[in-house]
Amino acid sequence: MRADKIYLVGFMGAGKSTLATAIGARLDWRVEDIDTLVEQREHLTVAEIFAQRGERHFRDAERAVLAELLPTRHAIIATGGGTYADPGNRSLINRDGVSMWLDVSLRRVIERLPTDGRRPLASNRSEMERLFRARQSAYRHSHVRLDADRASTGALVEQVVDWLES
Ligand code: S3P
Repeated sequence: MRADKIYLVGFMGAGKSTLATAIGARLDWRVEDIDTLVEQREHLTVAEIFAQRGERHFRDAERAVLAELLPTRHAIIATGGGTYADPGNRSLINRDGVSMWLDVSLRRVIERLPTDGRRPLASNRSEMERLFRARQSAYRHSHVRLDADRASTGALVEQVVDWLES
């Protein structure tokens, strides 16, 4: 693990993209968002990729984007909620940088997730709850756990910076 790169992992709605932008600004590190890079690569939105090409195609693209990001240093990577759930991705991430889990309660996820159809795996509430529970054991493999339920983005940024400096 090298401490010149941070992967933010955690469930949909945990605030990974927001925190990545804030940490990038604080450290003057590059910010990359796996979902955005997949969308650029496929010239489709995440929802369109799922609908037109299927989840497996999305996961292949997600894996390819992750591999392309490996040489990048001094960077914060906002992963998608499923990126770190894949065992192969997980071991790549944990060898490449510091994985930080934005641990958020299901209650908060439900409050925060817009029902705008942009997240195909959140469209069915009971399926989303099942996924949330199933993913917790994967996220526990991360190097650092951040309690994202109570802390503000600013407070989380300081926790991350303190961790890097300790
Ligand atoms: C997914 C989470 C999404 C996106 C896709 C699948 C998942 O990312 O990658 O809809 O499997 O949990 P966010 O966590 O950024 O919403």
